[in-house]
Amino acid sequence: MADTIKGGNHAALWSGRFKEGPDAQAVEFETSIYIDERMAFDDIKGSIAHAKMLGKQGIISDDEAKQIVSGLESIEKDLTSGQLQIDYSAEDIHSFIEATLTDRIGEAGKKVHTGRSRNDQIALDERLYLRRATMDLIASLKKLISVLTKIAEQHTDHIMPGFTHMQHAQPVTLAHHLCAWAWSLTRDVERLQDALKRTCISPIGSGALAGSGLPLDREYEAKLLGFDSITKNSLDSVSDRDYCIEFASIFSILQMHLSRFCEEVVLWSTSEFNFINLSEKWSTGSSIMPQKKNPDFAELIRGRTGKVYGDLISLLTMMKGLPLSYDRDMQEDKASLFEAYDTVSSCVQIFTYMIESAQWNLDVMENACKEGFLNATDVADYLVCKGMPFRTAHGVSASCVRLAIEKKCHLEDLTLDEFKQMSELFEEDIFATIEPKKCVNARKTSGGPAEEKVLEQIKALKEFCAK
Ligand code: ARG
Repeated sequence: MADTIKGGNHAALWSGRFKEGPDAQAVEFETSIYIDERMAFDDIKGSIAHAKMLGKQGIISDDEAKQIVSGLESIEKDLTSGQLQIDYSAEDIHSFIEATLTDRIGEAGKKVHTGRSRNDQIALDERLYLRRATMDLIASLKKLISVLTKIAEQHTDHIMPGFTHMQHAQPVTLAHHLCAWAWSLTRDVERLQDALKRTCISPIGSGALAGSGLPLDREYEAKLLGFDSITKNSLDSVSDRDYCIEFASIFSILQMHLSRFCEEVVLWSTSEFNFINLSEKWSTGSSIMPQKKNPDFAELIRGRTGKVYGDLISLLTMMKGLPLSYDRDMQEDKASLFEAYDTVSSCVQIFTYMIESAQWNLDVMENACKEGFLNATDVADYLVCKGMPFRTAHGVSASCVRLAIEKKCHLEDLTLDEFKQMSELFEEDIFATIEPKKCVNARKTSGGPAEEKVLEQIKALKEFCAK
């Protein structure tokens, strides 16, 4: 293995004012490099833009700007190849990169921090990180939506019971149910895209809190970073962590969706339901009960939801009492934000693998539609079509249900005479009308379960993923 290169000298950036160095335990307590190291490339990107801006404004010479940019690019390259190792004795990622830069290029490196504070720098790094991390998460979510859509496409004609209160309600199709999951995820994608609009705004140039007396060009620097605009108030720029809270709340909603789907997966894989058969690759066994095949991945996703909610609450609580502007409490934001992000990202991916490899017990689902009088509403609708007021029709259908319960049979097993005892409006066509597949395909309202309507949804979901 090639020798690794060490970073620069990691005396704290602020050590000049102090006669004594900090206690070793103090350093250990306050360091953030183990957490903020993941923003190394964002920090470098920000510093490259900053040096270019300083050069353009004549605050540093063109040559110094060039030296800084190429020094930072070499750090990026060596970090990527693994030749340069992060030195964890540095206080944070900003200190590590600045020290390494100065180590490599000498005096010019000491100019990179001109007109900037770590307070605006960290806010920039977080925004840059969130921009790229969100793009990855949106791509994973779109992949999951297209997997669900693909499965749905194969099952537009396969009926299953729809539930309310966990009781049989009305028949739907497996496609309709899976599209319902997919639509909730489209809202998560839209929320992420919307939050990015407020996140992709540049805070750099706000300094520690009060801007700078140097002729910085904030707009130019923002443009180099691919941001359309700059923050409007320097105090707000370094105090604001709304973007962290907004993302953590979007992650919480997304994780709540996954958790609900997982609850259904767990339930559907019980012997009692037996709607779904999870792949052996995405199931686990028991150390004592040889027969077991457990839906642990669905349970773990459901279980990790608490962690994501906890991260949101941590962030809200951390911020609630902070006076303007930057307070060190805010360093704690990254642990929560990153944990929430990592959790949702891995859960979206694992859920995708689990659901993509599952088998659906279509005959069990269809058979389940026989129980629970799923077609009772269709009996009432039949009478409505013949002119009976709905409230009266509801009562007549309920009487039919009562008779079927007494006779221990399904509604469709009642004779025409028995139906006619309840209402003269019943004719022979009642039997064809309340056949479950007919009931489903009669529900042609937009968004309804009829095959032609679900195909429209599938088309719209595909268009959403292609955008
Ligand atoms: N490591 C800090 C953070 O993550 C950024 C540095 C600002 N520190 C300071 N002492 N002003 O928030």
